Amino acid sequence: MENIVILKGITKIFPQVTANDNIDFELRKGEIHSIVGENGAGKSTLMKILTGLYRPSKGEIFVKGRKVKFHSCFDSIKLGIGIVHQHFMLIDNLTVIENLMLGIEGGFFIDERRIRKKAEEISEKYNLKIPFDKKIEEISTGDKQRVEILKVLLRDCDILIFDEPTQVLTPIEVVEFFKILRRLKEDGSSIIFITHKLKEVMEISDRCTVLRDGKKIGTLNRDELDERLIARMMVGRDIEEVKNPGGKIEEEVILEVKDLRFVEDDIEILKGISFCVKKGEILGICGVEGNGQRELVEIIAGLRKATSGRIFYRGRDITDFPVKGILSYSISHIPEDRLRRGLVLNFPLKENFLLTYQHFYPFKRWYGIDYKFLQDETKNAIDEFDVRGGDVDTPAGNLSGGNQQKFVVARELCRSPYLLIAHNPTRGVDIGSIE
Ligand SMILES: Nc1ncnc2c1ncn2[C@@H]1O[C@H](COP(=O)(O)OP(=O)(O)OP(=O)(O)O)[C@@H](O)[C@H]1O
Ligand SMILES: [Mg+2]
Repeated sequence: MENIVILKGITKIFPQVTANDNIDFELRKGEIHSIVGENGAGKSTLMKILTGLYRPSKGEIFVKGRKVKFHSCFDSIKLGIGIVHQHFMLIDNLTVIENLMLGIEGGFFIDERRIRKKAEEISEKYNLKIPFDKKIEEISTGDKQRVEILKVLLRDCDILIFDEPTQVLTPIEVVEFFKILRRLKEDGSSIIFITHKLKEVMEISDRCTVLRDGKKIGTLNRDELDERLIARMMVGRDIEEVKNPGGKIEEEVILEVKDLRFVEDDIEILKGISFCVKKGEILGICGVEGNGQRELVEIIAGLRKATSGRIFYRGRDITDFPVKGILSYSISHIPEDRLRRGLVLNFPLKENFLLTYQHFYPFKRWYGIDYKFLQDETKNAIDEFDVRGGDVDTPAGNLSGGNQQKFVVARELCRSPYLLIAHNPTRGVDIGSIE
């Protein structure tokens, strides 16, 4: 099969790290090629180079038989390369159709009717049902994903890159997503698929390339794919399955939720939820997204007000407590969306470590914030949780997605919380770190 993309000796040097180190990579026409590697291995950077978002420090790119140099993303789109990034690139307060129109060049004016018609045809063909006239902030994560896919298909891209598309999807949505991938492949698209889930690699890929510390370790053919082997290539050792840590559960009730109701825009989102969490217990909550998990978590964390019902924490009624009050009780919250609620990307890690705790001892002393202490604590957290790619002064936005997530988890756990509310804490985190 012919190679539709060839990367030769791609190197990308950032001030603090070499994100890509002399990488050779080939994408064959019509294949689904997975790329795996630990957090910070260089996957997203390589894809940003292939789409013209970053310029390589060294190396050559060939697309459809021609050597190319990208000056911007438009150059790569013109060659039919489309990417769905690890973090959605949608504008929240515009509607779906407005987002779809962004960046489509059409001379003096943009023909909404034409774009809408084409979008409808594509969404029909690939079963990508999305409410075109709703605002992005009103639709589910799965829908946002479908908008991103539609965006690249609208531009007639036939080289499609998906950077960790399944990290935000529920298992049922993953099945649907794979159907779309297979359909795209049948229609002749060539696909690069990045994931941390080796089962997904086994299920969908024709070949798989493994990166580690910015270097390519190797490419496996379909008949060579083996979960243990891939894991070993990625991490350099065997990975154990995550097991229930066991431990003793005590009788003391830490959290009690009683008949909690939440109504928004006349829709009853939580319909009388009650449960208890005892000391030493891990209570799992599962369900398809959009069934009230987010609201439940945010009410307990003090970010929303319940319509009715009560919440007790170690016997005290904390219903409708302000966030500051909740925090003062050593309740930690790992938010669902690290970018929206967890981090300020252009703040250095140490300031991100301080977030929400700026009012509390030991960070706040009588004279103000104890920066020396903050610096030391941040450094310990980075070391203990193996957050890679920066130090206390690195802006959070420079870390790879999985390392950002590890940092948020580190911050919340370092506070030795009495109660931890963890919403999708392993989102985008590699198998070694999950362990
Ligand atoms: N804009 C940037 N400035 C400085 N360093 C960066 C930048 N983008 C990425 N890096 C660094 O490059 C390295 C590779 O990051 P990259 O995002 O490519 O990793 P990744 O393999 O996609 O990881 P993940 O699985 O966590 O998404 C990391 O060490 C990261 O900190
Ligand atoms: Mg990445």
